[in-house]
Amino acid sequence: MTFDKIYQYNFPTTIRFGAGASKELGDYLIKNNLSRPLIVTDPNVAGLDFFKAIVSGLKKKNIGIEVFSDIHKNPVKSDVYKGTEVFDNTTRDSIIGIGGGAALDVARAIVLRVNHREDLFKYDDLIGGDVYVTNDVPHFITIPTTAGTGSEVGRSAIISDDETHQKKILFSPKLLAKIVFADPELTMELPPFITAATGMDALTHNMEAYLAKMPHPMCEGIALEGMSLIHQSLATAVNRPDLESRSQMLIGSLMGAVAFQKGLGVVHSLAHPLSSLLDTHHGLANAVNIPYGMEFNIGGSEEKFKRMARTLELKDETGPAVVKYLFELNSKINIPHKLSAIGVKQEHVEALADLAIADFAHPNNPKTVSREDFRNLYNKAM
Ligand SMILES: NC(=O)c1ccc[n+]([C@@H]2O[C@H](COP(=O)([O-])OP(=O)(O)OC[C@H]3O[C@@H](n4cnc5c(N)ncnc54)[C@H](O)[C@@H]3O)[C@@H](O)[C@H]2O)c1
Ligand SMILES: [Fe+2]
Repeated sequence: MTFDKIYQYNFPTTIRFGAGASKELGDYLIKNNLSRPLIVTDPNVAGLDFFKAIVSGLKKKNIGIEVFSDIHKNPVKSDVYKGTEVFDNTTRDSIIGIGGGAALDVARAIVLRVNHREDLFKYDDLIGGDVYVTNDVPHFITIPTTAGTGSEVGRSAIISDDETHQKKILFSPKLLAKIVFADPELTMELPPFITAATGMDALTHNMEAYLAKMPHPMCEGIALEGMSLIHQSLATAVNRPDLESRSQMLIGSLMGAVAFQKGLGVVHSLAHPLSSLLDTHHGLANAVNIPYGMEFNIGGSEEKFKRMARTLELKDETGPAVVKYLFELNSKINIPHKLSAIGVKQEHVEALADLAIADFAHPNNPKTVSREDFRNLYNKAM
C-alpha cells in the first residue's frame, strides 16, 4: 500500500443499532420538532406488518404521516418526481426512508430534489453533477429492512433513466442520513431468496472494497470484519434465521457500505448491466458473478486473497480456495452457479459487455478490466 497523495476518508452518520431500534423513531422526531414526515417505501414493504406497526406507532404520537410507495423494483427518475410532488403537495418537513436499497435510494433522491429542481440527472456524479448540490436538504432518516446494499449509510442514490434504463448515481455528502435506525427485528421475515441475494451483495461490497485500489486501511479493517460476520451468519440467516444471524447480517451489510467508499470493482460492473438490461435483482446479479470476478482478481492480489481466506477460516489460504468457497456458499443458499440459470442468453453477452465497460465501478478494481475481459467473464459464467 503506498500513500502517493492526500486521500479523503469519511465515516458515516449516527447509527442506532439493535433489536427494537426502530421503536425510537417517534421520540426522535418529537425531539427534533419534526411533525410532518414523508415516509418513502416500496409497495411490498408498505403492506408488511412491521411497516403498519411503525405507521400506527407514529400516529399514536400525533405525528402527521404521509406514505409514498409508488416506486419500481429498479427505481427510475419518474418515481423520484412523483414522490417529490407528494412532498410538496402535502407540505412535509422531513423524509424517512424505510425499506431495501430501492426504497432508500428513492428516498435519498427525493431528499435531493426537494430543493434542487434542475433535471435530476444534472446532478449525476459521473458528469461532476455533485457540484450543483448546494442548497439545504430536508432532515433525512433511514431504516433498512434488508441486509444488503447498506444504502442506509450511503451518500448516493442509484436511479435509472425511464427510457434507456441506464443507471445514474446521484451523490453528495449532504445526502447522508442524519440518523439510521438499524433494527434486525425488521429483517426477521425476509424470505430466503431475498436474504440470500441481498446477503451476497453485502459480501461483494466487503470483498470488492477490501481489494479496491485506493489505499484506505480503515476501510480494509472494516471490510475484513464485515466479511467475517457474513461468513458466520449468511447460511443460517437464509436457512434457519434467528435474531443473532439477522443482527450479524445487518451490521455486516452496513459495514460493507461504509467500506465501499474505498471503491468497488469488476463484480459490480458485471452485475449492473444485468439489472439495466434484464431487470435482474442487484444482489442476485452480484451473487452469480462474484466467484468469476474474484477468480479474475487473484493475480497481483495474492496477499489480500490470503487474508480473505484466513478471514473465511479456510484451511487452504489461497485465491482459488476463496473462489471455491464462494461457489459452495452460493450452493448452500440456493443461488445458481450460472448466468444461464437466471435468464441470461448467449445473445445478450455483447450488449452486456458494452454496458459493463461503461460502468462506474470497475475503474477501482485492483486489476484493469477490458471489454474483452468482460466478454470472457460473461461467457465463462454462462
Ligand atoms: N445506494 C447505494 O449505495 C446502493 C448500492 C447497491 C445497490 N443499490 C440499489 O439498491 C437496490 C437493491 O436493494 P435491495 O437489495 O435491498 O433490494 P430491494 O430494495 O429491491 O428489496 C428486495 C425485495 O425485498 C422486499 N423486502 C424489503 N424488506 C423486506 C422485509 N423486511 N421483509 C420482507 N420483504 C422485504 C422488497 O419489497 C423487495 O421486493 C437496487 O435498486 C440497487 O441499485 C444502492
Ligand atoms: Fe451492491
